[in-house]
Amino acid sequence: MGWELQRALAPLGEVVALSAASVDFCGDLSRPDALAQTVRTVQPDVIVNAAAHTAVDRAESEPERARLVNATAPGMLAEEAARLGALLVHYSTDYVFDGSGERAWCEDDATGPLNVYGQTKLEGEQRIVASGCRHLLFRTSWVYAARGGNFAKTMLRLASEREALSVINDQFGAPTGADLLADVTAHAIRAVQGHDDLLGTYHLVAGGVTTWFDYARHVIGFAQGQGKALRAGVEAVQPVATSAFPTAARRPANSRMDTRKLQGAFGLSLPDWRLGVERMLTEVLG
Ligand SMILES: NC(=O)c1ccc[n+]([C@@H]2O[C@H](COP(=O)([O-])OP(=O)(O)OC[C@H]3O[C@@H](n4cnc5c(N)ncnc54)[C@H](OP(=O)(O)O)[C@@H]3O)[C@@H](O)[C@H]2O)c1
Repeated sequence: MGWELQRALAPLGEVVALSAASVDFCGDLSRPDALAQTVRTVQPDVIVNAAAHTAVDRAESEPERARLVNATAPGMLAEEAARLGALLVHYSTDYVFDGSGERAWCEDDATGPLNVYGQTKLEGEQRIVASGCRHLLFRTSWVYAARGGNFAKTMLRLASEREALSVINDQFGAPTGADLLADVTAHAIRAVQGHDDLLGTYHLVAGGVTTWFDYARHVIGFAQGQGKALRAGVEAVQPVATSAFPTAARRPANSRMDTRKLQGAFGLSLPDWRLGVERMLTEVLG
């Protein structure tokens, strides 16, 4: 998402892009004090934090590191943003919810994370809100991008290696492109200028809903339609329950997110998840 943000934010002004490896300024979220110093030196108008400890299973065995990166550091950024009067843009996750029921989650619904990643991301949200800084907090889900690894690329690789695939069919959500997230972020940053009433927490995911199973079938069917030779076709994808793949961290079954608040506030219509996935696949397959 960081890569897509650099593209989308460039027209808004000078972008100082930092990572854990940055030399001139500290961009390492495991060093919150040094990060605060970066903000004091750069004095940005807007801080966009796309970094996180996203290794969901590993977080179970290193909760302190996950907390440092997902909660303490965003909290520190928020305090510095409040001091400066800067806008903080931050991303959170469907994993703040417990995944119960079948209804799409609204922003004010009760949270109940099932794992350390979700718990620490929720703590990050709470610290940002408590700081009183001007903020936009976007909860998203099932993020993919053309760059780097993603679920669709893994399915294409497996379908080229194997005769059959088993894919989870009891988790519901919407695959959301990092390009969509970045474009909406740029739009929202412009829109909140002079409109503090638009600040706050929003659910931001692509339209529609699917399961990993149907997502995999869509990816494989689209790739075959583009002439990609695969050993496993759509019919070779088998639905299985989450319990078939035991993991260290529990996953929520229901990650449906209600995006009406965002669409109404910013005058947006979010595209169906298939459109973004097909655009990403066209890039990957080309
Ligand atoms: N991916 C999803 O499905 C998903 C779903 C819901 C919400 N989100 C949220 O969306 C945001 C972006 O996630 P993403 O999908 O782009 O995840 P990602 O691809 O895993 O990117 C996370 C980035 O954070 C960086 N990072 C990790 N520890 C750091 C540290 N101590 N200091 C500085 N940078 C550090 C990583 O750098 P290295 O690669 O060098 O470690 C990586 O570039 C995050 O807030 C995430 O919680 C993601």
